[in-house]
Amino acid sequence: MSRIAVVPGSFDPVTLGHLDVIERAAGIFDELHVLVVHNPGKTALLPVAQRVALIEKSIAEAGFDGNVTVTSWTVGLLVDYCTDVGATVLVKGVRSQVDVAYETPMAIVNRNLAGVETIFMLPDPAHAHVSSSLVRQVASLGGDVSPYVPKVVAEFLQRG
Ligand code: PNS
Repeated sequence: MSRIAVVPGSFDPVTLGHLDVIERAAGIFDELHVLVVHNPGKTALLPVAQRVALIEKSIAEAGFDGNVTVTSWTVGLLVDYCTDVGATVLVKGVRSQVDVAYETPMAIVNRNLAGVETIFMLPDPAHAHVSSSLVRQVASLGGDVSPYVPKVVAEFLQRG
């Protein structure tokens, strides 16, 4: 039986921290779906389709795209997507106790809703301080985001 996992998130934009978690999760599971989910609690910088395209290009650039699918889910529960594709596991990167506190209730609800388990993955310490919101702020003020995001994302944000 093939093990299918989903890495969900806003990815607005994808960072090197996300990419690290995606690559390591792709090495653990037979099939990995990176799912861009619209988070109504956040004001978006990039349209969902743009975020998907940037993740696809970042993964291709990093060269580990064999078992990874990138797509989006903007209506309905995250676990409905999991059920549709036969995924039994969610993978989330957690950088701090703040992230764990934010993720824990969602993990419990997702398991209650559909039996989908959540696995928390620690980031590479090199990326532990990186967040999409930090990248959005630095980019919007004209700063260099290239240490925090894949090359294609830095180029895209610099084009404005
Ligand atoms: O990158 P983010 O913004 O922290 O990701 C949060 C996200 C999009 C994964 C979360 O908001 C989510 O799972 N949304 C889907 C809606 C849903 O299924 N909610 C009920 C269970 S938590």
